[in-house]
Amino acid sequence: MRISVLSLCVFSLLAAPSFGRIVPLSSAPYARRSQVVEREVEVELPGDVGRSPLHNRVTRHIRPFADEVPQLQRRDDVDNGAINRTDNPQPIRGPKGATFLHESNKAIDRQNADYLSVPPTDNGVIPNLKWSFSLSKTRLLKGGWVREQVVTDLPTSTLVAAAEQRLAPYAYRELHWHRVAEWAFVLKGTVRITGNDEDDRNYVADVQEGDLWSFPQGVPHSLQAGPEGAEYLLVFDDGNFDASGTTFMVDDWIAHTPRDVLAANFGFQDASAFNNVPASDPYIVPATSWPSLDEAKQAVSSNPGGEVDTPYHYALSKKDPTPAPGGGGWTKITDYRDFPASKTLASALVHVEPGALRELHWHKEAEWGYIVKGKGRATAFAGGATARTFDLQAGDTWVFPTNYGHYIQNVGDEPLEFLEIFRGAGFGSQVRFNDFSLTQWLALNPPEVAARNLNVSIDTIKQLKKQKQTIVAGVNKSK
Ligand SMILES: *[C@@H]1O[C@H](CO)[C@@H](O)[C@H](O)[C@H]1NC(C)=O
Ligand SMILES: *[C@@H]1O[C@H](CO)[C@@H](O)[C@H](O)[C@H]1NC(C)=O
Repeated sequence: MRISVLSLCVFSLLAAPSFGRIVPLSSAPYARRSQVVEREVEVELPGDVGRSPLHNRVTRHIRPFADEVPQLQRRDDVDNGAINRTDNPQPIRGPKGATFLHESNKAIDRQNADYLSVPPTDNGVIPNLKWSFSLSKTRLLKGGWVREQVVTDLPTSTLVAAAEQRLAPYAYRELHWHRVAEWAFVLKGTVRITGNDEDDRNYVADVQEGDLWSFPQGVPHSLQAGPEGAEYLLVFDDGNFDASGTTFMVDDWIAHTPRDVLAANFGFQDASAFNNVPASDPYIVPATSWPSLDEAKQAVSSNPGGEVDTPYHYALSKKDPTPAPGGGGWTKITDYRDFPASKTLASALVHVEPGALRELHWHKEAEWGYIVKGKGRATAFAGGATARTFDLQAGDTWVFPTNYGHYIQNVGDEPLEFLEIFRGAGFGSQVRFNDFSLTQWLALNPPEVAARNLNVSIDTIKQLKKQKQTIVAGVNKSK
């Protein structure tokens, strides 16, 4: 009997998520879980003279034992948690760590200073939440390219996938439709979109830089770049975008239909008109002509069904930005309330001035994000005393799973702009932009509540703003 109990222990040690690291048995996750008991008070760290009581606090239900506490990384007296930027980053923070003895990928290290010189407030194991489009394989095509971020690239992003796409001047993204909804933000150039809905109506529009389009699931559409070409971000409301049965191309279908059926379907004597349909889909089709928008609309204006009543285009570039009450930038929020074609994806374009901070907050939905420009830094707080800091720059994407606390800080010299995207919990469900602000939450309780919970003075709590700040201007406004 003893032997079998022992082997069970060994097995659970091997099966514990932290296998591969050296973890004392007393602090292995399964051991901790099995012994959790309610304790009345917070645990304080030994030897915390001169440190913030707030940062010495340990989550009671998760780490109830004083003997575990010394293993936690804690704030050093002199370490304010700021990014440790150097040209030759090393795995060093304060008295901890040591230089690389062997090679390291310096370019990646420099972009991810917070992975190497980890702020002491980071703790525990949080899976990767970031993907850079620069790590995606680019599909090169005649007339453009595309690179994707799907669930196999970033497994934590189960609800949202995305792509960056580029079209040469006048090139088409060929006629197609998706099982999922498509939302897009034009990064550069002009894109002419066409689409039609299930109620006989059609749509043609030119979408400019900084504007959005959205095609609900099933709605067939095409894209064409204007005279300067175009580049845009595509976002889809399912992480598994490469799954079979997600994208349906027009030439692919034609090429895979018996030709007598084609002839009968289109009312032709024979199907010779389709002899040259490409057998493998070209995906992007080069072209040279660009009729005026009026001409393009005119060509389909005889449709008795008329134009769609929920436009697939939204002129975000013309929408007035909403200044952040915190004075650190502005936002442009869209969801089905002002862009009814985008029922399943809500968005916020956020502009953060140098030194400013998208305040500590959380959302009911997972947040998928994309850096349009600038340099940012974010920490995801997953509860249970775990947090992980990420460095972000143009073309980086991230996902903060539902309800994770987070902030995004502008750590560059230029304005930081990014997109926050939200999808509802259920596929196809309507979603509205929402967020909860930490500051507002604290301020909208009787001051004694937060003061006692955080062991800070009532005066401190009384200074907190009752209105969401959204983006807080830098304390040091030297810029
Ligand atoms: C920051 O990192 C460098 C090495 O990249 C190290 O020498 C320095 O001590 C670190 N600074 C702090 C405050 O840890
Ligand atoms: C609250 O803060 C004071 C110092 O201001 C400290 O003496 C006390 O131990 C703290 N209490 C808790 C429960 O952390």
